Amino acid sequence: MKFSFIEKNINDIEADFEIILVIDKNLDHKFIKDKDSFEFLNFDGSGTLILTEKKRVYVGIKNSEADSIRKAINSAYSAIKSYKIRSVKIASYAHCDCPVLPTQSIVEGFILGSYEFDKYKSTKQTCTLEEIKISNENYFEDKKIDAKMAEVAIKHGEIMANATNFAKDKINETPEIYTPLKMAQDAQSVAKENSKIECKIFDEEFLKKENMNAFLAVNRSSALPPRLIHLSYKPTNATKKIVFVGKGLTYDCGGLSLKPSDYMLTMKSDKSGAICAMSIIKAAAELELPFEIHSILGATENMIGGDSFKPDDVLIARNGVSIEVRNTDAEGRLVLADCLSYAQDLNPDLLIDMATLTGACVVGLGQYSIGIMGNNSELMSEFKEKGKKSGELSTILEFNDYLRETIKSKIADIANISSSRYGGAITAGIFLDHFIKDENKDKWIHLDIAGPSYSESAWGYNQAGATGASIRMILYFLRMSAMQNCSHGERK
Ligand code: BES
Ligand code: ZN
Ligand code: ZN
Repeated sequence: MKFSFIEKNINDIEADFEIILVIDKNLDHKFIKDKDSFEFLNFDGSGTLILTEKKRVYVGIKNSEADSIRKAINSAYSAIKSYKIRSVKIASYAHCDCPVLPTQSIVEGFILGSYEFDKYKSTKQTCTLEEIKISNENYFEDKKIDAKMAEVAIKHGEIMANATNFAKDKINETPEIYTPLKMAQDAQSVAKENSKIECKIFDEEFLKKENMNAFLAVNRSSALPPRLIHLSYKPTNATKKIVFVGKGLTYDCGGLSLKPSDYMLTMKSDKSGAICAMSIIKAAAELELPFEIHSILGATENMIGGDSFKPDDVLIARNGVSIEVRNTDAEGRLVLADCLSYAQDLNPDLLIDMATLTGACVVGLGQYSIGIMGNNSELMSEFKEKGKKSGELSTILEFNDYLRETIKSKIADIANISSSRYGGAITAGIFLDHFIKDENKDKWIHLDIAGPSYSESAWGYNQAGATGASIRMILYFLRMSAMQNCSHGERK
């Protein structure tokens, strides 16, 4: 899909179809050309109306917020995707001090909404749409977007949405194909395609040498070797060092604490955190963000076999903390424990881990929200606020000392599961906190993406399957942090 910004009124642009957004049922706006037929067609400015003869599609939205625009574009795309259309045109909807966002949202809506994982389908749906023409004529007459801003909006929208679709392709890939070695190959390709990114791959011998015994225990019964993947991007004059850590379980059957079949299905998506870390560094380098960024990916399967690690085992992690294994299905935190320890040797200014860590997070927040945890309330709120315009949903979950008590162990420093059946997302976060050094406590954020990372049915502009959850939220956060003075303030 090619996006172009054209400095002509919408009516003067040639295209096979036009998309018109109807905001807050305002049918009197000058962009609306078919008001006379609306009553007959029962269109009151909400929902989608496609006028095939006129080659126009109207989509009603409550307001002009970024996520309303993304959803509207997704609806318009779904309505016209089967037509033999090569180009569409749409006006601008710029409306704030930083007018880049609405245009970026149009681009994101198209790229995210048109994603399909059809590799294994014998018949593939082909869409002929190639070109999206965005007019500089603006819906709000008192605001406008110039060509320079539009260029930035298009470029950023493309980078962020393409990074998300890149992740979806990897996460949707089957566990037979997508192994820890495949993840390592993909990381190497990311580095090969962008000279600003470096990639180091570490094997089992390295993990042994580094005493990453918690990570190794999870891998033990897998027929496939583990990999620790370290990607880095170091621009000159970087203002901050940010380290991402991702849970990369290419399959999680639960180990000896075997998952029931219904719960095992979809566990190819347990690698989402690591794939997000890979996609984020790829996009950050393309955006040329002024931060030194590292992505540490812990890649392994959690399988079952004669040499499985066992409930009752005690593991000594890289940082010396002893862990009583009480459930082998709480494996992500074991891999992360060692990866977080490794990551802190880099002395980050900010440390963020992403993991499909707990079913409890999905039960607590619903399947659409990311759980944000950590010790620094201010940092968590800042992250949530700056990431919000991505449209990704999140909820801050606070740690407390009573829950901290529940992962105490009688024979080791901590147990890998809580003694209580409640608060499982938070107790997993508290477990990880045991691997964060005192000097980094306030610099760390844990994101539990178990809910939104993979869905068995489509929602918003997400298709069924992988969503790339957390990628855009983090990229919006990084972008906002890089240009503090642009508020992205929005009018409702
Ligand atoms: N990978 C799962 C968590 C998960 C569940 C991700 C649902 C996505 C959707 C994780 O390794 C796991 O199995 N966690 C256990 C922890 C429990 C044993 C304390 C869980 O949530 O049941
Ligand atoms: Zn598990
Ligand atoms: Zn898992």
